[in-house]
Amino acid sequence: MSGAIKTDAADETREKTLDPETLSRLDEVLGEYRSKPGALIPVLQIAQGMIGYLPEVVLKRISVGLGKPYSEVAGVVGFYSFFTTMPRGTHLVRVCLGTACYVRGGKQVLDALKDELGIDVGETTPDGEFSLEVGRCFGACGLAPTIMIDDDVLQRVKPSRIRGILDVYRENDKGE
Ligand code: FES
Repeated sequence: MSGAIKTDAADETREKTLDPETLSRLDEVLGEYRSKPGALIPVLQIAQGMIGYLPEVVLKRISVGLGKPYSEVAGVVGFYSFFTTMPRGTHLVRVCLGTACYVRGGKQVLDALKDELGIDVGETTPDGEFSLEVGRCFGACGLAPTIMIDDDVLQRVKPSRIRGILDVYRENDKGE
């Protein structure tokens, strides 16, 4: 679950800066899906694919465009963890808390990431570099505990290695 829909002052600013071209593309999608049954989830997926996240202004537009109550649109977004109302960082860090990883120290790895990044699950670092989320089994249980950073699966992760792992991504970003 991604939890409650959060909106803060920074979000409001970002929402106002969504470009007209993106909004008109969204309107085209809404026109295409308006009369189709079960349109809400596909439209939310397309909108998130286009924009990267689902700010309130977009949810309101989808609500009006599909003729659905805003509470229903926001409820679906809050229910499914793959939807996010907050912009994600450059790198998405996901910690596996599936059974195998949990019993082999996944929770300690998550705590080390929270400490190192200074954020909680579902948040993004103020510099926009990392977002932190949890997952359930990345298919590498034999090498637990695992984390994913973007598309990389890192295995047998130790809390003491977290800073070094993140530094590799930080250094790569500086070099780009
Ligand atoms: S439980 Fe973590 S990879 Fe399977």
